[in-house]
Amino acid sequence: MTRLIVGLSGASGIIYGIRLLEVARELGIGTDLIMTGTAEEMIVIETSYQPEEVRKMATRVHESSDMTSPLASGGYRHEGMVVIPCSMKTIAGIACGFADNLLMRAADCALKEKRLLILVPRETPINQIHLRNMLSLANAGAVILPASPGFYHRPETIDGLVDHIVGKTLDSLRIDHQMYRRWEGYRPA
Ligand SMILES: Cc1cc2nc3c(=O)[nH]c(=O)nc-3n(C[C@H](O)[C@H](O)[C@H](O)COP(=O)(O)O)c2cc1C
Repeated sequence: MTRLIVGLSGASGIIYGIRLLEVARELGIGTDLIMTGTAEEMIVIETSYQPEEVRKMATRVHESSDMTSPLASGGYRHEGMVVIPCSMKTIAGIACGFADNLLMRAADCALKEKRLLILVPRETPINQIHLRNMLSLANAGAVILPASPGFYHRPETIDGLVDHIVGKTLDSLRIDHQMYRRWEGYRPA
């Protein structure tokens, strides 16, 4: 079974993370969920879900304060880690190896073990510090996948925009899906 670590941090766009958990379950992919305290607040601020409902979407849940978790070790085997959405604070922490919660420690381990690490930042505008941190992370092997959906597939709903980013995330993980219609060239009507 494919096993992913899914980190939810306290940036806007928490629905991206919730949708990824939902789709992973539909695809039979196991998920280890880590939510920061602010991510739990964002669920209530931005959606009609409760944190408890989101926890139930994951295969396993790990407290972000629990540094004794198996996920705090580089020996924990998984096919990739996604932080979606990823706040600039969490980006900064991972970029400098400041692993003071389980989410940042698991990301640190993914980098040192050369496992896939996909970061889905959401911030605008972005300053030089954000850019520098993201460049450091890209240089260290992370995939920076900004939460900026495309429009070429003609989304008609917010769900269509969310699914585009979740689909691109699955693409980076090399997982097959039908989340969005792929570009097949321009065919005038
Ligand atoms: C309503 C709201 C929206 C926010 N949106 C963002 C955002 O889009 N990007 C970001 O980097 N931080 C955002 N923040 C700030 C983060 O929540 C804050 O930096 C927090 O410390 C992140 O902690 P975490 O990364 O441990 O979850 C937002 C905060 C609030 C209250």
